[in-house]
Order: sequence, then C-alpha cells, then structure tokens
Amino acid sequence: MVMAENMQERKLSKIKTHWCNNITAKNIGERVEIAGWVSTVRDLGGIIFVEVRDRTGLFQIVSDPQQNPEVHKIFEQLKDEYVIHALGVVSKRPEETYNPNLPTGEVEVYPDKVEIISEAKTPPFLINDDQEVGEDLRLKYRYLDLRKQKLLNNLVLRHNIVTEIRNFLNNKEFLEVETPVLIKTTPEGARDFLVPSRVHQNKFYALPQSPQIFKQLLMVGGIERYYQIARCFRDEDTRSDRQPEFTQVDLEMSFVEPDDIMHLIEGLLSASFKCAGVDINGPFPRMTYKEAMESYGIDRPDTRFDLKLFDISDIMKNSAFTAFADIVKKGGSIRALCVPGIANYSRKYMDDIRNLAISYGAKGLAWITYAEDGSIKSPILKFLNEEEQAQIQKLAKASPGDVVFFVADQDPVVFDVLGRLRLYFGEKLNLIDESKHNLLWVLDFPMFEWDAESERFMAVHHPFTSPNPESVDKLDTEPQNCNALAYDIIYNGTEIGGGSIRIHTPELQQKVFDTLGLSKEEIQDKFGFMIDSFKYGTPPHGGIALGLDRLVALISNAPSIRDVIAFPKNSQAKCLMTDAPGSADEEQLSELYLKPVYPKKSK
Ligand code: AMO
Ligand code: AMP
Repeated sequence: MVMAENMQERKLSKIKTHWCNNITAKNIGERVEIAGWVSTVRDLGGIIFVEVRDRTGLFQIVSDPQQNPEVHKIFEQLKDEYVIHALGVVSKRPEETYNPNLPTGEVEVYPDKVEIISEAKTPPFLINDDQEVGEDLRLKYRYLDLRKQKLLNNLVLRHNIVTEIRNFLNNKEFLEVETPVLIKTTPEGARDFLVPSRVHQNKFYALPQSPQIFKQLLMVGGIERYYQIARCFRDEDTRSDRQPEFTQVDLEMSFVEPDDIMHLIEGLLSASFKCAGVDINGPFPRMTYKEAMESYGIDRPDTRFDLKLFDISDIMKNSAFTAFADIVKKGGSIRALCVPGIANYSRKYMDDIRNLAISYGAKGLAWITYAEDGSIKSPILKFLNEEEQAQIQKLAKASPGDVVFFVADQDPVVFDVLGRLRLYFGEKLNLIDESKHNLLWVLDFPMFEWDAESERFMAVHHPFTSPNPESVDKLDTEPQNCNALAYDIIYNGTEIGGGSIRIHTPELQQKVFDTLGLSKEEIQDKFGFMIDSFKYGTPPHGGIALGLDRLVALISNAPSIRDVIAFPKNSQAKCLMTDAPGSADEEQLSELYLKPVYPKKSK
C-alpha cells in the first residue's frame, strides 16, 4: 500500500512517470512511462532508435523487430513531431553507444508498449536551433519555434528571474498589487492605445503605458511598499528593444530617498543575474547626466570601452577658422573623438565616416590624421594656427596612428552625432570588452527639455518626478536648468530601468503641470483626481520600473527582446500567428459608435 502511494506521488500524470531528462543510470531496472514529441527517428537496418523530447530534454527509446514485433510496427510509423507515449524498463546502453552530450546518454528503454497520441504534419522548419529560419516564418509558427531549446531556455530563465525578483521583494515586505488595465491615460511619452467604451458613447479607456499613477495612489493609500510584474502598452515604433506591449518590474516605496531605491535595485539585479550564473555586486558606479553627455554623448553610456568625447570649444572660440568660432559664439560647441589605429585608412573610409556623421544629423565632419611617420594631415589644417594644433593634440592625447574627428554644432547635435560615432567605432574596431557586465546609475537628469516642434517644455522622465530640492527655485525662472531627483539604471549601454522620487504636494504638482504648458482644464480633466489625492495626507515616495523583457534579453544575450517573449509582435507591431490587429465587423463597430474609415480609391 505504501509502495503504491509512493509510486503515485512520483507520477507526473496518469501516463507519465518521469521527465525525459531525469531518467539516468540511477533508474536502471525501473519501469518508466514517458510522453513527448518524436525528435529524431533513425532506422539502422531493422533496429529503430527514436529520441523523444519533452520540456526537459531528450530520451532514447529503441525497438528491435525480433524482440517485440508489435511495438516495432508502431515504431515504423513514427515521424518527427508525433506525440507518443512509451512504457518500458530502463536499461544500460552498450558502452560504445553512450552519448556523452546528454544526461540520459548512458541509458535507454526498449518499450513493451508504445502508442501514438497525435500525428504531426511535416513542420515548416526543423525543430533544431542550428537551422537558420527567417523570423517571419518563426513568428507565424511560434508554437513550433517554442519547441526549440534556445527559446525554451529563454523562457525558463525569464521564469527563474521573475521568481527571484518576487522572492527578493516579498522578503523585503513589498506587497504585490494589481492595478487596472482599462484606465484613463498615463503620460510616459508614447501614444496611448485606446479602447472604445460600448456603454458610454464616444468615451475611451486608455491602456496603461505604465502603472505610474496607480502606484502613487497606492502610496497615498498607505501600502508603503508595492510591486507588480506589470504589463504596459505603448503605441510607438517597435524595435529590437521595444514592443508595443511589454512587462515592467514596477515598484514604489514611501518614506524613501534615491539611495534607498538604488540600494534595493542593486540587490535585486544581483539576484537576477545570479540566475544566469553571473556575479555582479553593488554599489554600481554613478554618473551625472552632464558627465554622461559630455564624455559619451548619450544618457546611457556603454562604459565597456573608453573613447571619450572632449571639448575644444575654448581652443576654437577665437580662432580665425570662423566656421568653428562662430558656432561657439552662437552658443554651440565643438567636440571631438580621438580614434586609435585608423590613421592609415583610405580617404574613402574617411568620406564614408563623414557621410555616416551627416546621416546622424551633422552638418559636416572634420578630422586630423596623426600618421605613424609623425606627419599630420587634415582637410582643416590650413585653418588652424600652430598653437591651436598643439592644444588640440594635447587635449586629444593623440598619438601616431590616431585620427581625431570634430563636430561643431549646437550641443544636442554634437552629442548625438559623436555619441553614435563612438558606438560605431567601438563595435567596428572591436574596442568593446564583451566579457564585462557594466551596470551604472545615471543621475541628475534635467526636469524638462524644450520641444521645438510643439514649442513647449516636455518632462524628461514624467511629470510626477520631483525636482531636486537644490534646484526647485529654478522652476519659475529657468526651468531648463532645473534638475530632477531621477535615476536611470544602465547595463552595457542599454537603459534597463528608470525611476524617481515623486512630487507629493498638490502645489508643486500643479506648478510642474503649469511649466509643461498644460491648461487648467487639461490638468483638472486628466490629473485632477491625483492632485486632489495629495490633499489627504501623502507620504513622500519614489520608485522605479525595470524593463523585464530587456533585462532578460540582456542576461541571456538574446539579440532582441522578441527572443524572451513567448508571443511577441513583429517590427510592424503585428502578431503573425493570429494576424492581430484584425478588422471588426460593422455590428461590433456600431455598438462602439465607431465607423470604419476606408482609404479613398484612386481612379
Ligand atoms: P520608463 O518609461 O523609463 O519609466 O520605463 C521603464 C523601463 O521600461 C522599459 N521599456 C520598454 N521595454 C520594452 N518595450 C518598450 N516599448 C518599453 N518602454 C519602456 C525600459 C525602461 O527603462 N513609470 C516609470 C517608472 C518610474 O518612474 O517608476 C516608467 O515607466 O527598460
Ligand atoms: P567648409 O568651410 O564648409 O569648407 O568646411 C571645412 C571643413 O570643416 C570641411 O572638412 C568640413 O567637412 C568641416 N566642417 C564643416 N562644418 C562642420 C561642422 N559643423 N562640424 C564639423 N566639421 C565641419
């Protein structure tokens, strides 16, 4: 009786006692039942070897026509991806047939019973990681792609990371709380996805770009420590690191300062990376936004290689080379990058780099070549006097073999172009140490940036971010110089998360909305309930959100976040498997008070 109960306990299901990968030499002599997919069939002149695959791995079953003709008849019908069920006693393989690449490679089963549960059509691609298959086909048959080891490993890693994160936060007394998906709007800088209401004519819900507003209201509601593995929706162009729906590890805490959040995230990330056997320990380096822009031209620097930007505006501001001097006088700058080992590259190479810089938005690109023989060449040499040349060489720390590139323009253009050229050279010249896991905090972001198109200030993070108390008085007079209590976490040049300390007084929140140019009516309509809530006793609070898909993609070295999402959209935001988004019939549309708009037919 006890024996029977034990057997029962060990069973995975009525027809499966073991996962394929768990049957090893320790099970020899034991009767097992496995169920899974036919991975390979090899017919060696009578004897047929079949590898059965389930979620855990592969297990070999064998049939010998002499031994069991009944079973053999079924073996002869087996084809790739058939779903089968097999029963038999585990035996040791002959030593010469060991497969050292499999944990189950020393054992096999000659089943005394096999049944075909489901037949399978020939799949459109081999279920094999080594096979190159176009992504569109893989996305159309995602359920077949999921049977491959690589994708499965990514989902397992994702699960393990989420489990670690939940344990980590649960141990720190966070409450996991769900926030609604049918909401009004969350201003995170992208377009909202709208859902028309059937009950309320011409009214729409928005899907959350993040749980930002609700997590702050949870703080007003006294929850103090909240987290959620939250689905977010943003209608923006899809890229390798962006999806229209994605997942955040979202959290918020009351009575905290930036250091509290950063310390917490250092522990959480260290636990997450451990899932892939990578040891990273805090505290992570910190860099101001200003330093990131001035040294790397970007607010998410890849610090795995040096190649820093430097500023020659001071050297050039009174130069006779008016093309450069005038830019400094107009408030712009001239910055440079000293690239090693390319001085003997062709003129064509340099022209290609110039065209690249122009495609990035530069008006031109100048350079000085420091040849190995000590000679110096440059299209702009004739415009520079000896002192300027010497000062530039000194500041660049240029040695023979180097080329110094210059961009002159307003700061945002200079940073963007040189920042992108830096990354281009880093990759092309193999300057990046791929073994590094560089985590970095970027701090002291500006509160606002001027948007020339709409002629108004926009929030750099989001409008609920608190100004740094040291610069709060600049809100009225010079908002462009007001810094935020915001922090971004960067991993090898990718932003994996961002957060801030929030505004928690109605007056300051109102003022920030004013600075953003929102009208009184707009503020009341969109955020009136939030400003009101701040009048009922609001704790100081702050938080952060990590992009879970990005984090898992980076930890697993996947080229795109699509590789760590079970059913992702393609780069046109379509699901190729279900063909979403699809059309709706007229009845459904009319219930929602909507009319389809068809493009006019051209005559
Ligand atoms: P933010 O907008 O910076 O902050 O988003 C946080 C993190 O979410 C990830 N992310 C994305 N991942 C995949 N696809 C996308 N389209 C996408 N957009 C963003 C990024 C990013 O760092 N509410 C604030 C957080 C806070 O202040 O607490 C927020 O959403 O990794
Ligand atoms: P020009 O005076 O326009 O003939 O330019 C002289 C050199 O300076 C050329 O090599 C240009 O490519 C370069 N140049 C022009 N404008 C810029 C700029 N904004 N930034 C960097 N180099 C520039």
